Amino acid sequence: MITIGQVGVGVWGRNLLRNFMSLPDCRVKICCDKNKDVLGILKAQADLKLKLTSSFEDLLNDSDIKAIVIATLPETHASLAIKALESGKHVFVEKPLALNIEDAEEMIKAAKVNKCLLMVGHLLLYHPAVRHLKSAIDNDELGNIHYLYSTRVNLGQVREIENALWSLTAHDISVAIYLLNQQPVEIAVTGNAYLRKGIQDVVFVTLNFKNNTMAHIHASWLDPHKIRKFTVVGSKKMAVFDDMEASEKIRIYDKGVDWQKNYGSYDNFLTLRQGGIQIPQINMMEPLRIECAHFIDCIKNNKQPFTDGDNGLSVLKVLKSAQESLESNGKPVKVK
Ligand SMILES: NC(=O)c1ccc[n+]([C@@H]2O[C@H](COP(=O)([O-])OP(=O)(O)OC[C@H]3O[C@@H](n4cnc5c(N)ncnc54)[C@H](O)[C@@H]3O)[C@@H](O)[C@H]2O)c1
Repeated sequence: MITIGQVGVGVWGRNLLRNFMSLPDCRVKICCDKNKDVLGILKAQADLKLKLTSSFEDLLNDSDIKAIVIATLPETHASLAIKALESGKHVFVEKPLALNIEDAEEMIKAAKVNKCLLMVGHLLLYHPAVRHLKSAIDNDELGNIHYLYSTRVNLGQVREIENALWSLTAHDISVAIYLLNQQPVEIAVTGNAYLRKGIQDVVFVTLNFKNNTMAHIHASWLDPHKIRKFTVVGSKKMAVFDDMEASEKIRIYDKGVDWQKNYGSYDNFLTLRQGGIQIPQINMMEPLRIECAHFIDCIKNNKQPFTDGDNGLSVLKVLKSAQESLESNGKPVKVK
């Protein structure tokens, strides 16, 4: 049994808490939040049997607690994580890992020096449909990947400090890096703020990878639709992952353009292939439960998390370059 504590029990933190509490080999002992109203909501749920506190030190000083889950806002991730790691606690931190590269590197170093695990909540990399898409790409079912694009739009949750780039696109960036197995080399971002000055509500992100591969992300919290969709266009087949679909989350289209060797006219030099559609069976489990179970499994079995500090840093580097491009009206910026 791994005993853990959690700091930050707001909108998303409550989802994490529900999942960690439901794992058979995990016990959540203390929850910390600086907002008394948030603690009040938990206190009203008498069956939770949690110790509640507004002092982070209570988590650090409790020798039963082997790991700390951090679900506060991003500007606090680094300082809380470093304190936890220096107290010998393993750390799960929500995305983004940190707000700047130096902080992220400090976190990775603190984990190494203190021989603790550091895991970042890149949730979609634990999604069974994303894993399926990855194996379809790695098995060459789709052929060479030409480009992919994602749409992550909804009405809300409107943020006060973070813009839509930082709040929403970490997921899509992590998936693009994972599926293409490489960092982008260059990024260009445009966006606009309508609700609050200087906080972009909508962003359009273009990522260029080696070999002419590109990815595009449209993210917004000011949109009439709720869309969570990825489209991957390969030289052999095309795939769509629609997370709003209840069961048929992935469709693989046998569509493409074939070149004919012997052709009479240009009309039949290129032929459009309108083949069938395959809907693979995917055994769905809540991705957040898989993610939480992975963290506990890594602690129990001394394994490196799939989304470790380096994985968090790779996404952060893209976000930093993206912000630079956004501030210069979409000028392409090299990803360092
Ligand atoms: N993986 C996902 O799909 C996903 C979805 C939403 C949010 N998130 C991430 O989760 C994190 C939290 O987001 P949220 O929407 O729950 O925000 P939120 O504002 O609803 O909750 C944050 C909570 O942290 C508390 N807090 C802040 N600083 C604290 C401190 N120093 N000590 C104790 N408590 C503190 C606040 O009082 C608040 O209750 C963010 O990093 C966000 O990016 C991830």
